[in-house]
Amino acid sequence: MTLRLGVNIDHVATIRNARGGGYPDPVRAAIMALEAGADGITAHLREDRRHISDNDIVRLSRLLREQGRPLNLEMACTQEMLSIALEHKPHAVCLVPERREERTTEGGLDVAGGHNWIAPMVGSLKGAGSRVSLFIAADPAQIAASAHAGAQVVELHTGAFCDAVREGRAKEAGLALDALRAGAAHAADLGLEVHAGHGIDYETVEPVAAIPQLMELNIGHFLIGEAIFLGLPAAIGRMRSAMDAARL
Ligand code: PXP
Repeated sequence: MTLRLGVNIDHVATIRNARGGGYPDPVRAAIMALEAGADGITAHLREDRRHISDNDIVRLSRLLREQGRPLNLEMACTQEMLSIALEHKPHAVCLVPERREERTTEGGLDVAGGHNWIAPMVGSLKGAGSRVSLFIAADPAQIAASAHAGAQVVELHTGAFCDAVREGRAKEAGLALDALRAGAAHAADLGLEVHAGHGIDYETVEPVAAIPQLMELNIGHFLIGEAIFLGLPAAIGRMRSAMDAARL
């Protein structure tokens, strides 16, 4: 089964917002990413709008609808974000934890501890036709709670594995990869579609992509950084090839 690549274009907006104004435009990046082999586009509308803006979401929704390609909207579990998602009805919504002081999404969602407010939100989003994904650590309790909350998808957090590889902590990297493998198998057994993402680069993509239950990877920061050196199509093409090689 081929593994889909969702390209997260948030950090094109980060560069734009460093100066204000209109460039570089994340919508132009989305068009290029799709042409270069991305299966869909992921964007995180954060509560503080530090990168993607409300108008970016309007334009991305329009583009992806016109092209018949999936938009995966990442968002916090808040009433404000729920109303935005219900207005745009993206193909997929990924619920993520969000704290303003963090630089990126540091940990997974505590679905086990937040069932009473996450489950109704999952229900509303599904009612509007979006596929709902929960971004969680590869932890058995969180996986079981995600199925119980009615999510169709879980996205397993690959940050601990990727950080350990980059920092040369081989033992921790091995344990984190084992947890991802076990988590993917557990989630698939419960009938969940399994995605993964966070911190993936050319080195870490192959062992992650080799996990057979995974259907989609969402990759952003590293690809946008590589695009500075290689150009976005080449950066994405190289990632796509590494993913395909892992599935041979
Ligand atoms: N998946 C989710 C749910 C995320 O929150 C992020 C970061 O925004 C990513 C994937 C992509 O992570 P990265 O930008 O490190 O590739």
